[in-house]
Amino acid sequence: MLNEKHNGNHRFGSKIGFILSAAGSAVGLGNLWSFPYKAGVYGGAAFVLVTLIMVIILGLVVMLVEMYIGRHGRGDVVSSYAKISPKLKWVGYLALLVPFIISCYYIVIGGWSVKYAMSYLVAPDFINTAGDSNGAFTSFISSPYSPIIFTGIFLAISLVIVCGGIQKGIEKASKILMPTLLLLLIITVIRSLTLPNSEGVMQGLEFFILKFDFKALGWAGVVAAMGQAFFSLSLGMGAMIVYGSYSGKSTPLGKSAAMVCVFDTLVALLAGLAIFPAVFAYGLEPSSGPGLLFATMPNVFSSMPGGALFGFLFFALISVAAVTSVISLIEVATGYLIAKLKWSRKKAALLFGGMMMVIAVFISLSQGAIPSINFFQMDLLTFLDELTNTIMMPINAIIACIILGYVVKPKNAIIELRQTEKLKLGVMWGMLAKYVAPILIGIVLIFGVSAKVKSIGDGFYFVIGLAVFLVLVTVAVNIIGHRKDKKNTPIEPPLV
Ligand code: PHE
Repeated sequence: MLNEKHNGNHRFGSKIGFILSAAGSAVGLGNLWSFPYKAGVYGGAAFVLVTLIMVIILGLVVMLVEMYIGRHGRGDVVSSYAKISPKLKWVGYLALLVPFIISCYYIVIGGWSVKYAMSYLVAPDFINTAGDSNGAFTSFISSPYSPIIFTGIFLAISLVIVCGGIQKGIEKASKILMPTLLLLLIITVIRSLTLPNSEGVMQGLEFFILKFDFKALGWAGVVAAMGQAFFSLSLGMGAMIVYGSYSGKSTPLGKSAAMVCVFDTLVALLAGLAIFPAVFAYGLEPSSGPGLLFATMPNVFSSMPGGALFGFLFFALISVAAVTSVISLIEVATGYLIAKLKWSRKKAALLFGGMMMVIAVFISLSQGAIPSINFFQMDLLTFLDELTNTIMMPINAIIACIILGYVVKPKNAIIELRQTEKLKLGVMWGMLAKYVAPILIGIVLIFGVSAKVKSIGDGFYFVIGLAVFLVLVTVAVNIIGHRKDKKNTPIEPPLV
């Protein structure tokens, strides 16, 4: 840490660097993979609309709460919460645990996208074997070695960036990769909207932005939209806290949060515009679920003129987006290890990466190579995704809002934030964070969980149980640590 402070590599160098890095964290598989496939499953435009509402009334509010907590604390996630009150360290532990779980499966999917991008470049036949891209996808992810190797490649690229540090690694990579991503995405959208079957293109547009099928949405769709908004904006898991703590003194956090939300939503909408018109134009199923990107889109590319090139661009853009997100997940833990154990950045990132890789191997194998690695008929990836997205992230977000509302108090936060900007809607933000967000997130969480129990079955009780268990463990660690700290603090000799 001392070293980083010394060479200026402990903070983002500029406002735009901060915004692009936070946007890089936000824009990822959430926008390009899960948003389109969930929109496909939960009634298209209805899901899009509810997700947008969630982003505006919850996402933006929680993002500013997290960035504020980070900059107020100016430390890793745990010490940022501890600065508010030492009794709150457990919230930091939770915010450390969730990104770890997510990054383990995130790198597996990141690996798949690297594999697809490279295949389009050098061996497009892999995906179009007998025109059955679904079969090719299933046989790829259920093979024992290949997905693990690509997961390793994806992780290695991400670790190189994290090892470069905040300014020279994360910020520099985001400054180059984010504009590249936008460009690739716009090219893909143009291709999709100008496909020869214009009727199909129109149907795709209708499905994605015009036809509101609220029946297909249901409560499961509403909670999925909320989880989607949080996941996509990198909320409820410490990433924005850590990036907030690296922001410059004069960076206006409210404005930055708003820009990140706009950028993130824009990319998600563009992803839908790239995918649905093409899916409809080639008469494919929009509601094919998680396989939409890897199993359905290759069919589109194989029927499209210049398909291999667009296939490459498309999967390259997904890989880029995934890298800039996963580096923020890794940074949460790396930052903690550097501050807490005084480790070097390299040592911290490599140790954490190694742990991620071990679990990722099991996740990859649970995709079919060793089908017995599952919980209540959920493969390990789905299981961890449910645990984090449906339950832990909303819980973390509620806790962050309650802490801001009742411990920090909005008026104090607003005074601090106003040192760098006007923050016209500050009072409203405080009210939303204090009253509306915790209640709304709570309600959606309860309804959503009960809808999930119905759809997934008793296995979901296990997911809930595990989430509660993890919360209790972090609280216990906090209490034990607190006692130890007290014991170890030498009693001050009386001043004579
Ligand atoms: N927001 C990222 C995405 O949309 C995922 C992510 C979540 C990254 C949390 C960091 C922290 O893919």
